[in-house]
Amino acid sequence: MTKAVPVLTIDGPSGAGKGTVSKLLAKRLGWHFLDSGAIYRALAWAVLSWGVPLDNEEEVARVAKEMMLEFICNESVQVLVDGKEVTDKLQTEECGRAASTIAAYPKVRQALLEKQRQLVRPPGLIADGRDMGTVVFPDAPYKVFLTASPKVRAQRRYRQLKEQGFDVNLDQIINDLEERDRRDRERKEAPLKPAEDAVVIDSTGLTAQQVVDKILELLPESLTSQPRGR
Ligand code: DC
Repeated sequence: MTKAVPVLTIDGPSGAGKGTVSKLLAKRLGWHFLDSGAIYRALAWAVLSWGVPLDNEEEVARVAKEMMLEFICNESVQVLVDGKEVTDKLQTEECGRAASTIAAYPKVRQALLEKQRQLVRPPGLIADGRDMGTVVFPDAPYKVFLTASPKVRAQRRYRQLKEQGFDVNLDQIINDLEERDRRDRERKEAPLKPAEDAVVIDSTGLTAQQVVDKILELLPESLTSQPRGR
């Protein structure tokens, strides 16, 4: 990791608003955005479509090493696996569940570690995930752990999926979210938890812009005084 390039990590459970807030911040600061959940989801998609059993850690880690992953960042982020655009396929609950399952494997996390660290680029990186501040970028100077009540998180996720045209059920989303959070928190390798030096922000009752403003207050003025846009 290049020391001169600032990294802001935003970790937290599903539906806490990490993605929305990270994209707004990336635009405001003119920084790059790493959606690490999309990497785990892309791997899950590759594993399911290559017909590899989800419970085979060795094989899943092999796919993690061999798959060709590309992010094309314009207004939105497009994800390509082995040259095929899969962005829309990654948002299903099936893919989220499979991502959370394979994310518990130490060999898989190891295989994806360098791929994530290589994405640090000037003028700065906003890294959104579960272990950005604890494992992937432990030396990052700015760390946030974003939470929200389980009910609000499920409602946000429900609205997001509806807007994307998915036929979803709120009770099912609540169940999926609880199960996924439990698995992400209880796994041995890189569990979901705040880094010791992270600032915890509860986004329940806050708009995305209010969260963005709170995070901007954590950065030195030298980084926030020149809105760049992208
Ligand atoms: O943020 P998301 O919902 O797109 O992430 C999907 C799953 O990927 C999540 O349940 C856990 C896993 N994940 C992870 O283990 N570590 C990360 N840094 C990001 C995601």
